[in-house]
Amino acid sequence: MRPFAVAVAGKGGVGKTTLAALLVEELRRRGTVLAVDADPNCNLGEALGMEFERTIGQLRDEILERIADLPPGVPKDQILELGLHECLVEDEGVDLLVMGHGEGPKCYCMVNHVLRRAIGTLKRNYDYVVLDNEAGMEHLSRRTTQDVDVLLVVAEPYPVSLRSARRIAGIAGELKLRVREKYLVLNRAAGGLSPETRALVGETGLPLLAKIPHDPGLEELSFKGRPLSELPLDSPARRAVAEMVARLLPERRGNGR
Ligand SMILES: Nc1ncnc2c1ncn2[C@@H]1O[C@H](COP(=O)(O)OP(=O)(O)OP(=O)(O)O)[C@@H](O)[C@H]1O
Ligand SMILES: [Mg+2]
Repeated sequence: MRPFAVAVAGKGGVGKTTLAALLVEELRRRGTVLAVDADPNCNLGEALGMEFERTIGQLRDEILERIADLPPGVPKDQILELGLHECLVEDEGVDLLVMGHGEGPKCYCMVNHVLRRAIGTLKRNYDYVVLDNEAGMEHLSRRTTQDVDVLLVVAEPYPVSLRSARRIAGIAGELKLRVREKYLVLNRAAGGLSPETRALVGETGLPLLAKIPHDPGLEELSFKGRPLSELPLDSPARRAVAEMVARLLPERRGNGR
């Protein structure tokens, strides 16, 4: 079965990793989740309280180094698949895969091809995939953010942030990425928006899916380096994300799986 895949994008520091982690926490209540950290800074694991030892970037380099020494006939895709499973960090209902650094100057074509196929197969084991991206738009042009059901563009309710969201939405459109739906999520926003902000939201061309309020409890956990799972279910940010998921997946509301 194909999982329901959600990718999070946006300008630096707007709350992408926070939203991705809260989404994972909400979705794991409904089914199994593969959390993919596609930001080279790798902080989704910390937000989820899951420690990783090996990234896909490291695996790719190791395989490339070893490939020349392997005797002929040793199936390289099997070695890669084994390595891929060693990169997975497992927790109850959630596995984490950390992509790590990008490619160096070597030729990665063959390894990338096999890796992409192996990750594609791996994803099928889950009900949901949540992808946390690096800031900006490069992941869009590298097309690492495609084949997702939903792209969530996160922005704060300020002009610079909303203009950046508009550019991201525009580029995703120009590149004709395989993304079924795109939405705007306003972080650190609550209540009514000023007419100026509403106009800027309209200019993004993205339907506004949710507003996540500033949450002091979340801020405190983040300062302490504690996982967001420790945030009470009735805290403002968690409630907003629960409502957002219920809007995204109404057919699965409260049913479990
Ligand atoms: N709604 C919120 N309430 C309180 N604190 C928040 C909220 N959203 C994000 N934060 C805090 O803001 C900081 C930046 O958030 P986060 O790391 O999620 O942003 P990001 O977009 O992933 O950043 P980067 O571009 O560096 O990856 C974190 O310390 C996080 O705890
Ligand atoms: Mg981040």
